[in-house]
This record gives sequence, C-alpha cells and structure tokens, in this order.
Amino acid sequence: MLSLFAQVDQYIEQLVANEDTELVMARQAISKAGWADQSISPVQGKLLQFFARSCQAKRILEVGTFGAYSTLWLAKALPPEGKLITIESDQEHAEHAIHIIQQSAHQHQIELLQGTGLHCMTELLSQRGAPFDFFFIDADKPPYLEYFQLAIKLARKGSIIVCDNVIRNGKVLDETSNDEKVIGVRRLNNYLKDCKEVTAVILQTVGNKEYDGMVLAVVN
Ligand code: DHB
Ligand code: MG
Repeated sequence: MLSLFAQVDQYIEQLVANEDTELVMARQAISKAGWADQSISPVQGKLLQFFARSCQAKRILEVGTFGAYSTLWLAKALPPEGKLITIESDQEHAEHAIHIIQQSAHQHQIELLQGTGLHCMTELLSQRGAPFDFFFIDADKPPYLEYFQLAIKLARKGSIIVCDNVIRNGKVLDETSNDEKVIGVRRLNNYLKDCKEVTAVILQTVGNKEYDGMVLAVVN
C-alpha cells in the first residue's frame, strides 16, 4: 500500500501538477534507459515552476540535467523570450537529455552545456552575461557548496536558488557520516547558518520520492 505521504502526493498531483505529454515522455524515457530515477516528482516540478514564476524568471540556470525532466518543468515557466541553460557532466545523460529537449515545444529556449558544473559555471561567470533569475542545483553532491557560491555570483538581488536533496532521508543528522553525498550537502547546509548573502530556509519534502529536502534561498 502507498504511504499516506505518497497518496497525498498523488492527490496534489492530479489537482495541480498533472504532467503534459512532454513530461510523461521524459519520465518514461528515463525508465526505459534503465536508470535509477533521480528526477524530481511532478509536485516538485510544479513547485519549481511556482518559484520561477514568482521571481518572473527570464533566465534560468539548472545544474544537473539528468533526463531533462526538471528542465522541462522549468522551461514551461518561462515567458516566450526567456531562456534556460542546463549543465550536465555525464555524456550519456547529456545525449539522452538533448534528444528529449529536441522533442519539446520549448527546445529553442533551452541550451545544454556538457561539462562539470564547476567548469561551466566558471565559464558563464567569465562571459559576464545577464544575471540568472532562478537556479536549480541538482547535480553531484560533493561540490554543492561551490555550486551555490557560484550561483550567488551569477545572480542578482532577488534571484532564487533552489538546491535538491539536502536532507537525504535524515542522514544529514549524522555529523560523522562517511557518505560523500551527505558530507557534501552538510557543507552547504552549514554554510547557510552564517551566510549574509542570502535569506534561506530548508524545506523537508515528503511524497512519492524518498524523504528529503530542498534549500530555498533568495539573494540579498
Ligand atoms: C541522488 C541525487 C538526486 O539528485 C536525487 O534527487 C536523489 C538521489 C543521489 O545521487 O543519490
Ligand atoms: Mg535531485
């Protein structure tokens, strides 16, 4: 039987987070590829849309494309002139994602950069382009703090930064954990304690996915 959290997640999903055909296709393609599904849930996708819309995001930066599922949820929150850049370091995931993006009505608004988050974000910084309004950090966990610090540099006052998977089934409570993912997200979470550059909170997330959490931050 589904847990109560999963049942309520389905209830919320059918009310306000229904997938369109592009999103269904993206999710099914991940499953067909045989990869463990590390994508966000539909309700989390709608939450990202909510934040992107609330800051009227015209420029979105995603770190960690995976199967482009969150990419599509975010692209759908953009105005027609808006643009989303998504970064993926894994070549197989990047090629898969490009294929998915090419089948989207938003393909012309999405650019995929293949490379590590650190490399691509540093490169974007050196290009001195317009700031990004919204960031979704969902890549490898060990450099989460560095991704967050680079995001602040690529942002403007009022930009929103969301980081996935910062609670990890509660494993973040273990200060002595040897898990590199736990160590990585704990570095970010601890940094928020005295960080003057953002106003941040951590939201616990329950539902269809594992018990986890997201950092929600707005740049001061
Ligand atoms: C992992 C990564 C994710 O982005 C996620 O949403 C869930 C799990 C992981 O690397 O374990
Ligand atoms: Mg994630």
